[in-house]
Amino acid sequence: MNIYNKILKIGSLEVQPGLTLAPMAGITSQPFRLLAKEQGCRLLFSEMISAKGLLYGNYRSDALLYFTEYERPIGLQIFGSDPKIMAAAAVRIEKHKPDFIDLNLGCPTRKITKNGEGGALLRNPALCSEIFKAVRSAVSCPVTVKLRKGWNELSVNVLEIASRAEEAGIEALTIHGRTVEQGYSGKADWDIIRQVKAYVGIPVIGNGDIDSARAAIDMLDLCRCDGIMIGRAARGNPWLFAEVLAALENRPLPEPPTADQIVAIALKHFALLAELKGEAAAAREMRRHSAWYIKGLPGAAAIRQKLIRVKSFIETEAILHEFVSQGGSF
Ligand SMILES: Cc1cc2nc3c(=O)[nH]c(=O)nc-3n(C[C@H](O)[C@H](O)[C@H](O)COP(=O)(O)O)c2cc1C
Repeated sequence: MNIYNKILKIGSLEVQPGLTLAPMAGITSQPFRLLAKEQGCRLLFSEMISAKGLLYGNYRSDALLYFTEYERPIGLQIFGSDPKIMAAAAVRIEKHKPDFIDLNLGCPTRKITKNGEGGALLRNPALCSEIFKAVRSAVSCPVTVKLRKGWNELSVNVLEIASRAEEAGIEALTIHGRTVEQGYSGKADWDIIRQVKAYVGIPVIGNGDIDSARAAIDMLDLCRCDGIMIGRAARGNPWLFAEVLAALENRPLPEPPTADQIVAIALKHFALLAELKGEAAAAREMRRHSAWYIKGLPGAAAIRQKLIRVKSFIETEAILHEFVSQGGSF
């Protein structure tokens, strides 16, 4: 039996293997999720959506709910700190028929934590329980929680919060092995993920610093978790999912993408974004994606200067094609 090709269960939902794209605000909108899925990612999450924004008719929050049937199974993630508002937002979200609803207890952004939302909730375990129970009893789809190790190294309480989630009937957890104060610095603590997995009976997805097939296997070996989640390393590199999937399924790793394939996917990403948000907004969003697509490659620094100013698809296409034709080695 291949121990890496595990089934991840979220309520009655089964995902095999539990290879997941992390929710990343401003990055994992529908087009990027689709590209990740095409490469073998098995489970998707929306970007985080404000529960308040959703209830009070914020246009941006509504747009974040959009997903296509192809992306299933998908979880829609909400953040907030008021149990009643979180429950009401979950009810509203359930009408869009996501496969599950995910609660954000990890966001370290000051704009969010200063309102007691995201990662700041870890400082208030009793409130976490209230939110879990309120949301769990308000909807019938599975509810999951994504959380960090604790607020800071002096208050590592993920085991307590994880067990409160389990008690409240939450179906699965994602653990990012950093504290909120750490943000994205330092190294993710995988041992804490192992501890949570050993502590609770519900499925655990491990998250933090997976950037290769080797790292994916190493996390599964150490943590014995039910799934793994990849965030930053997938930016500009949806092929990472093909590589990790092959490793989990015990197949030879695929060849890395060619320059032409990279350009084709970057342009597909742009076209999909333009369809969704209009060309001007897509061009702005693609500036950073394009830089990620070409990151670390010889000649990339010079071309990045051009890419960060693009205003249209044609311009991006011309810059990327010129780069490839001049032998810019990808
Ligand atoms: C730009 C950015 C945006 C993020 N947005 C979200 C979000 O909306 N919801 C969430 O739960 N986590 C969010 N995260 C955290 C990631 O989901 C993930 O937990 C983190 O990046 C660690 O995984 P990695 O080391 O594979 O990147 C974000 C991370 C980044 C870098």
